[in-house]
Amino acid sequence: MVPRAGHWGCLVLEVTAALIQLIPSGCCGSLITGGHEVTPHSRPYMVSVSFEGRHHCGGFLLHVHWVVSAAHCFNDRDPSTGLLVLGAHALLKPEPTRQVFSIAAVVRHPSYQPTTQANDICLLRLNGSAVLGPAVQVLGLPRRGARPPLAGRRCRVSGWGFVSDFEEPPPGLMEAEVQVLDLNVCNSSWQGQLSPATLCTRSGDHKWRGFCSADSGGPLVCGSRAHGLVSFSGLWCGDPKTPDVYTQVSAFVAWMWDVVWRSSFPGSSGCSVSNVTISAPYWGRDE
Ligand SMILES: *[C@@H]1O[C@H](CO)[C@@H](O)[C@H](O)[C@H]1NC(C)=O
Ligand SMILES: *[C@@H]1O[C@H](CO)[C@@H](O)[C@H](O)[C@H]1NC(C)=O
Ligand SMILES: *[C@@H]1O[C@H](CO)[C@@H](O)[C@H](O)[C@H]1NC(C)=O
Repeated sequence: MVPRAGHWGCLVLEVTAALIQLIPSGCCGSLITGGHEVTPHSRPYMVSVSFEGRHHCGGFLLHVHWVVSAAHCFNDRDPSTGLLVLGAHALLKPEPTRQVFSIAAVVRHPSYQPTTQANDICLLRLNGSAVLGPAVQVLGLPRRGARPPLAGRRCRVSGWGFVSDFEEPPPGLMEAEVQVLDLNVCNSSWQGQLSPATLCTRSGDHKWRGFCSADSGGPLVCGSRAHGLVSFSGLWCGDPKTPDVYTQVSAFVAWMWDVVWRSSFPGSSGCSVSNVTISAPYWGRDE
């Protein structure tokens, strides 16, 4: 079994409707498996990354100019055609709370590896500045190098995964409560394929619960901070045999602030806080 970014089965669903019958409904039926719709705008940090008007991945607002998402979300996409939708709840309805931005730059983690999904994290620069308010807020990060949440801790994961075979988004933002799973147990389930700086969750009871494909890039929130970033799961969303895998955010905090800081003060890289070069291609205008 090879870890597949953002749940292979659902990616197929996005590519060709002809293959849908091969995929059990439990799989792609609801992006957040076993979850519930949240109170509108109660997760004001959530961002929908869309292409051609369709939700593709999740993300969260880190800073008025920056969104955090998963690097694999851009494997086969031209970021110049993407949009970042802030302040949303029901993606198919017009919502006055929404703020829509283009992606001015994608900064993938320089050590991101598409084959193993190691370091599956990227920063997206907005083409303008988000206006913070009740429906649009930043989400806090763990302290730099903080230990990941312990096994058994309850956290929540939210997203706008498709609900039907015809790529309909759910009625609104969905969320599931999940439990952090011991990393060694998770690694064994994944036959030792997990990269360092990952986190896993399980439902914590007999129900299948967790994320699916278009939830990629969304945060796993423990307490009030983003401890994980949805990376990949098995063919069947919520299947305990292939626990959900996240990027462990605390391992990347220094890198993230470094990127944000460098972009705020171009030319000052000599004083950067971490020893990581931004090798990802910048494109477009970096305002
Ligand atoms: C940013 O992008 C959005 C969406 O494409 C566009 O409506 C807006 O005018 C752009 N803002 C700036 C400052 O270029
Ligand atoms: C998973 O197990 C493999 C093989 O034992 C090991 O190389 C790898 O570092 C482990 N990953 C994690 C995240 O512990
Ligand atoms: C930064 O990283 C480079 C390449 O990995 C290494 O050669 C250099 O010694 C590092 N510098 C510091 C200050 O750690």
